[in-house]
Amino acid sequence: MIQVVELSKGYGTVAAVAGVSFTVPALGTLAVLGPSGSGKTTLLRLLAGLDLPDAGEIYLDGRLASRPGWALEPHRRGLGFLFQTPALWPHLTVAQNILFGLYKSPKKAAQERLEELLEQMSLTALARRYPYQISGGEARRVSLARTLAPRPRLLLLDEPLINLDPELKHHLLQLIKTTVTKSRGTLIYVTHDRQEAAAVVEDFLFLDRGRIVQRLEAV
Ligand SMILES: Nc1ncnc2c1ncn2[C@@H]1O[C@H](COP(=O)(O)OP(=O)(O)OP(=O)(O)O)[C@@H](O)[C@H]1O
Ligand SMILES: [Mg+2]
Repeated sequence: MIQVVELSKGYGTVAAVAGVSFTVPALGTLAVLGPSGSGKTTLLRLLAGLDLPDAGEIYLDGRLASRPGWALEPHRRGLGFLFQTPALWPHLTVAQNILFGLYKSPKKAAQERLEELLEQMSLTALARRYPYQISGGEARRVSLARTLAPRPRLLLLDEPLINLDPELKHHLLQLIKTTVTKSRGTLIYVTHDRQEAAAVVEDFLFLDRGRIVQRLEAV
């Protein structure tokens, strides 16, 4: 479960996130929507523990995870974070990049999971290539595979399917959904596309200039 209480984060004079409060139950799925610059990425970075709030708190499964001046380290939050701009290790192959997400798994289990993901994401033929040898859309799939690989309990996806064709989008949305269901995890999904989000989430949060302007919950 995620509880966000009166959370604020500013950059200079910009209030990127301003007094935001909401709760996502365990096994919950939430889309965060809003125009460019409305604070979606800032909110994800705060949830991941990559940034500290100026005010407010975040609780994960009932435990304090962030407050001004202190945050539980990202790697101790059981999370998978897909950044808005895919960041692959340039010196590692596609397969090694995905295995990087599985560093905690035993070697055999990691190899099996890698092969499963390569297959599911139609990346098998690219496994031995380096990031400079693949297309932008392929790189996006590799970074999604790396994020989903360990089946994290808290999955934070920042516009994961932007610039992908509709057929691939549909396939990957199903894959994200199955992964979240299997890991019995919580998903926060940032997008500009409400229809796309509706395929994977139950609840919606709309941000504008750092504030929640609407919250829609499944009944
Ligand atoms: N590190 C930073 N330093 C200064 N200002 C920042 C920083 N990060 C974000 N901002 C500002 O905070 C506001 C919110 O940015 P944020 O990246 O959270 O928006 P967003 O909703 O993710 O937008 P987009 O849909 O374009 O990705 C913007 O005005 C942005 O310019
Ligand atoms: Mg953003």
